Amino acid sequence: GVIEIGSAVAGGGHHTEQDYPTPMSEEIYRETLGREVTSLSAENQMKWDYLRPDRETFDFEDADEIMDFAQQHGQVVRGHTLLWHAQNPTWLEEGDFSADELRDLLKEHIDTVVGRYRGRIQQWDVVNEIFTDEGELRLNDNIWLRELGPGILADAFRWTRAADPDALLFFNDYNVDGVSAKSDAYYALITELLAEGVPIDGFSTQGHLSLRYDFPEDITENLQRFADLGLETAITELDVRMDLEEGATPTEQQLEQQADYYRRMTEAALSVEGCNSLTLWGFPDVYSWVPGTFEGEGAATVLWDDYTRKPAYYAVQDAL
Ligand code: XIL
Repeated sequence: GVIEIGSAVAGGGHHTEQDYPTPMSEEIYRETLGREVTSLSAENQMKWDYLRPDRETFDFEDADEIMDFAQQHGQVVRGHTLLWHAQNPTWLEEGDFSADELRDLLKEHIDTVVGRYRGRIQQWDVVNEIFTDEGELRLNDNIWLRELGPGILADAFRWTRAADPDALLFFNDYNVDGVSAKSDAYYALITELLAEGVPIDGFSTQGHLSLRYDFPEDITENLQRFADLGLETAITELDVRMDLEEGATPTEQQLEQQADYYRRMTEAALSVEGCNSLTLWGFPDVYSWVPGTFEGEGAATVLWDDYTRKPAYYAVQDAL
């Protein structure tokens, strides 16, 4: 099929604590982002903790910058994300809100954020990471599910649809590349919600892969079963990390294996009808979230720190 190739727009993550320039203020970063991809995702800039410094305030500065950049470069945007257990502000997580107040807060957030970009977002990750790897709903660590129950998921999709009727509305998660307890849980939940008429348009797998694990061979089969429900699918956060000591350079063999994983993910995205995009979770390596999150792993993106191309870059290009 025809797909968008996208990238996360770096910024606001752990690397802001470090001694690097803000990615979007770097000319070479902007040039690369404008040239290499047709779709943008906010790596952090549309998350609750970023948009909502306090209960009363919406801070759209960096999100707006991404939207403007996309418009100037003819790119589409994936909105990320509205309902999630992580990166929520402390005032929200530790606030003493009643269930009614929390419901109103989520609705107000969706109305305001989705409404602001109405008609300009191709797809929203409405709901992010609600299942554990065992396929259990995160009823403890997700504030919305814990305080409001699973019914809030249908509400979130309905509120998002009302705020922007043109955006495609997605469930998004990691470790759902292949068929597993976790992707089975999504399959069952989405089947049920669709039968109730909940406006769900898509299911996406993030695609955070590691050379420590085998390639998820059954990704095509998995995405296809969601496509068969009438959904669009997407790969939304592709990166391929590898064992790497700090300051070390990957071996040629690691780079080849990484390129192979990138190539196979690209082929999977192309081969599933209705898979509409393949988004890389940022570049170059220096802006990747991987070393700060996965101890002893790194070099997960397709570009070296000086923006020269790794074998993985050519692997994606060749597969397209
Ligand atoms: C990550 C960002 O890349 C980091 O900069 C941030 O510190 C933490 O979040 N799944 C998601 C993304 O849905 O939002 C996460 O992004 C990576 C895992």
